[in-house]
Amino acid sequence: MRAELRVLPTADLGKGGRRGLRGLLDAAFGDFDDASWDHALGGVHVLAGPPEAPVGHAAVVLRRVLHGGVALRTGYVEAVAVHPSLQGRGLGGELMDVVEGLVRGGYRLGALGATERAAPLYRRRGWLEWRGPLAAVTPGGVVDTPDEVGGVHVLPVDAPLDQAEPLICDWRDGELW
Ligand SMILES: CC(C)(COP(=O)(O)OP(=O)(O)OC[C@H]1O[C@@H](n2cnc3c(N)ncnc32)[C@H](O)[C@@H]1OP(=O)(O)O)[C@@H](O)C(=O)NCCC(=O)NCCS
Repeated sequence: MRAELRVLPTADLGKGGRRGLRGLLDAAFGDFDDASWDHALGGVHVLAGPPEAPVGHAAVVLRRVLHGGVALRTGYVEAVAVHPSLQGRGLGGELMDVVEGLVRGGYRLGALGATERAAPLYRRRGWLEWRGPLAAVTPGGVVDTPDEVGGVHVLPVDAPLDQAEPLICDWRDGELW
């Protein structure tokens, strides 16, 4: 399957597009919460199908990830989803082709928090499971986030990564990675 994909900023989704996207995410994840929805907004959306009724989606948003003393401009991938009726036919890979182009062209690092089932898809495409320490900047200071080890994957672009050094993400409500 080769789908027609488009890239839109959140502002161009409009009301109908937001409603349609939330419907897809609810259908694909089952339990897509409001914090995860917030994480998916504010950057660009890669969409398959009409924005009011998309069948595939991935978002790339800017986050800052501290590593080795540098605040890396990071393209963080959120809300990767294919409608349940179309899963397993390659659409997820096509969405990721576009996502990776956006990451490589605009950021120093790509990162995402993978669900267990989806992790092999990313690893086959060259994303690296981050096995080093993970932490987050919080209102109370930097805290370790050891529970996330195994789920966080990175796509290095032009940032040297050292697995002995922590990746430290910026603060947000809901899941930090
Ligand atoms: C993960 C997901 C986006 C992949 O899209 P897709 O179009 O099914 O993926 P593709 O057909 O391009 O690739 C298939 C690969 O994705 C993974 N995959 C397939 N069905 C899946 C499913 N229901 N859930 C999660 N991963 C799945 C497998 O690793 C599969 O590998 P295989 O081809 O060796 O079997 C899609 O299955 C989905 O929306 N899952 C539910 C939401 C989710 O978990 N999103 C990922 C968040 S990190």
